[in-house]
Formats: sequence, C-alpha cells, structure tokens
Amino acid sequence: MGQVHAGMAVSIDGFVEDTRGNAGALSVDSEALFSSAQFAETKARTGAVVMGRRTFDMADDPDAFADIYEFQVPLFVVTHRPPERHPRENDALTFTFVTDGVEAALAQARAAAGEHDVTVVGGPDVIGQLLQSGLVDVLEMDLVPVLLGAGTRFLDSPALAGVRLEREFVHEIGRRTTLGFRVVHGG
Ligand SMILES: NC(=O)c1ccc[n+]([C@@H]2O[C@H](COP(=O)([O-])OP(=O)(O)OC[C@H]3O[C@@H](n4cnc5c(N)ncnc54)[C@H](OP(=O)(O)O)[C@@H]3O)[C@@H](O)[C@H]2O)c1
Repeated sequence: MGQVHAGMAVSIDGFVEDTRGNAGALSVDSEALFSSAQFAETKARTGAVVMGRRTFDMADDPDAFADIYEFQVPLFVVTHRPPERHPRENDALTFTFVTDGVEAALAQARAAAGEHDVTVVGGPDVIGQLLQSGLVDVLEMDLVPVLLGAGTRFLDSPALAGVRLEREFVHEIGRRTTLGFRVVHGG
C-alpha cells in the first residue's frame, strides 16, 4: 500500500493564505516548482489526491481541473455540500465529493491509488484532521520567502500538540525550501 503525503506552501511567518483568503503570494516560483525533478517524482508516485472544499473552491472554474491540474488522478473532495453540477472529468481525473469525513475520503483515495501514494494538498483544516487521526505518513512544508503578516495558519490546533515528527528530507526548489518530515506513529 502507498503512503500518505500531506503538504502545503507556507510563508516564513507560518500562513497558508492572507487575511483575504488569497494564497497567490505563495506561488512566486510555480514554473520552477512544476519543472523540478522533485515535483516530477511527486506526480509519478501520486495515485489519488485528497483536498478540502475550500481548496477545491480556489479554482475559479472547477471544469478547468480536467485540463490543467497538475495531478491528473482521481480527486477526493471532503465537503458537507457537493456542488450542484458535477465538474468536468477526463479519463484520468475524476471527482468524488465525500460527505462522511476525512477518514472516509482517505479510505476511498487509498483504494483508488492502489500501490501509489495519496497526496493531500490542503487545506490546513483537512490536513490537521488527518494528522490528528494518525493518518499522515509524510508531512511537507514548502517554506516560501514571503511574509504575509496575518492570515490562516498552517497547523493551528492545540489537538496537534505532541504529534511526533522526524526530518526526512530538505529540498531547495526555485525560491522555496521544502521540508519533509516523517510522522512517527505509535511507540
Ligand atoms: N498555501 C497552500 O499551499 C494552499 C493550498 C491549498 C489551500 N490553501 C489555502 O487554504 C485555504 C483553505 O483552508 P481550510 O483549511 O479552511 O480549507 P480546506 O481544508 O481546503 O477545506 C475546509 C472545508 O472542507 C470541508 N470539510 C473539512 N472537514 C470536513 C469533514 N470532516 N466533513 C465534511 N466536510 C469537511 C468543509 O467545507 P464545507 O462544510 O463548506 O463543505 C470545510 O470548510 C484556501 O482558501 C486556500 O487559500 C493554501
């Protein structure tokens, strides 16, 4: 069975979006990221993606996922309110709106991914719930050299205190520094 990787881009002062809900300032080097060997490796090992409803809503046009989204795999969106119209899909990229929680979404994503990994792309709400349930294997932070001053914090829950992490890798990609941590389960 594959592993569960969860990660997001984070400002130096710890925010994943500004106070207006805009994460654009953290995409300073998308071209370098998407053309990097590390991103190619992430894409190759990803068999399914999990995301929260607010992350899904970042797309102005949900139909565009089928054309341009970097992960052309089954996508599982955790939500209480599936959209009235199902977004466009293609042979590789499908949408499943999961209304019974993050664990159910992850179980469906794991089944779809088979031997491949599941990548959780955000937001902090969904990643926090999965971490709290002990369901993340590798936690990644793309530290972007930007200060947002205020906004939504990456992991901002007292319930996460005590989650044990061990450094697994550090990559320099474009302007960002990617920190990868193995989540220590049990013991
Ligand atoms: N910096 C980055 O790399 C990056 C990446 C992705 C997103 N972001 C930013 O992060 C923001 C999203 O933050 P977030 O943590 O609030 O959003 P999120 O995790 O993407 O989505 C949260 C939403 O998912 C649904 N949800 C979560 N848990 C659920 C559960 N157990 N059962 C059913 N539905 C559940 C709820 O939506 P409903 O109740 O409305 O259905 C909830 O409001 C975005 O606005 C974006 O700007 C940044």
